[in-house]
Amino acid sequence: MPVITEIADLKRIYRRRVPRMFFDYTESGSWTEQTFRANSSDFNDILLRQRVAIDMAGRSTASQMIGQDVAMPVALAPVGLTGMQCADGEIKAARAAESFGVPYTLSTMSICSIEDVAENTSKPFWLQVYTLKDDDFMQRLFDRAKAAKCSAAVITVDLQMLGQRHKDIKNGLSAPPKLTARSVANMATKVQWGLGMLGTKRRFFGNIVGHAHGVKDPSDLAVWTNEAFDVSLDWDRIRQFRRMWDGPLIIKGIIDARDAVQALNVGADAIIVSNHGGRQLDGALSSIRALPAILDAVGGKIEVHLDSGIRSGQDVLKALAMGATGTYIGRAYIYGLGAMGEAGVTRALEVIHKELDVSMAFCGHRDIRKVDRDILMIPKDFSDRWQ
Ligand code: GLV
Repeated sequence: MPVITEIADLKRIYRRRVPRMFFDYTESGSWTEQTFRANSSDFNDILLRQRVAIDMAGRSTASQMIGQDVAMPVALAPVGLTGMQCADGEIKAARAAESFGVPYTLSTMSICSIEDVAENTSKPFWLQVYTLKDDDFMQRLFDRAKAAKCSAAVITVDLQMLGQRHKDIKNGLSAPPKLTARSVANMATKVQWGLGMLGTKRRFFGNIVGHAHGVKDPSDLAVWTNEAFDVSLDWDRIRQFRRMWDGPLIIKGIIDARDAVQALNVGADAIIVSNHGGRQLDGALSSIRALPAILDAVGGKIEVHLDSGIRSGQDVLKALAMGATGTYIGRAYIYGLGAMGEAGVTRALEVIHKELDVSMAFCGHRDIRKVDRDILMIPKDFSDRWQ
């Protein structure tokens, strides 16, 4: 086993082990991928202020997200199709998150169901829900989340329609994968992945098949997905979801300050500044650049979390120092999962934790909750370069 010291090491192994169509699904942004790239590269515009001769002993990265204790403020983001990256992937990722002490967010479009994950973990996880038209299905999702003791619902508001990702179309992405000459030839080289998939019964969208009207078996799913997403979504509809779920509510997919205020007004407990990992509007502002205006707009009345672009503990540190209460990793843990299953997700968390902890210390801090903007050097026009 190669020595893994950074997230890029996990990505290299992941690329070798997982069928091309699932690697491409992870590694895609929409259209030209301008926003996908900017999400990460814009972090490089912010510098960290190094301090010396400050006692660095007894450090802590422990904090809270929506009032829940976390070993570090880094949650696992919802990622569709996780159980196609590795057999029973959602269960493995949730278990790694649980052992590490960070929140796991299960996607509605997961392969393992809410019940599968609940049965195979012992701490509450969060459930991500899309804004779908079917009220019965939505209410049942929330009820199932409650029965599974999920400790938060994360509503994704930036996916009324799907941004186009060229590679997914060209690869004919599906779950389970379509068997074409090309995909079979590629899958035949992924022995470990294939053996895992043969050894599990979880190969379809577990939250949907058998739960949504008209989706009795996987072949009905494509028709359902095309019709299910609510292109007419508005804030009144989001208010209805708020009424359907009485637990902690997080609204994900905010990139504009006006929308952040709307989310505050519908009674969310937190918002996630996110452009869906650059997978929706190509040309949108990166999350880190959008963060300052959103923080100003909500004025501390609601927790602000950040997702999209984080690949290192230094990125986490910058987002927290800017004022985010928590952050999310998506691709960074999927690389680990595809590379080495549960152990790979743990490794991704360890890598990010070490980078966060040591970088915090170099900036002269011992407690992540006390880190503030003083450790950052930000170009004067960082957040208002584009008006
Ligand atoms: C779904 O949310 C996706 O980005 O593929």
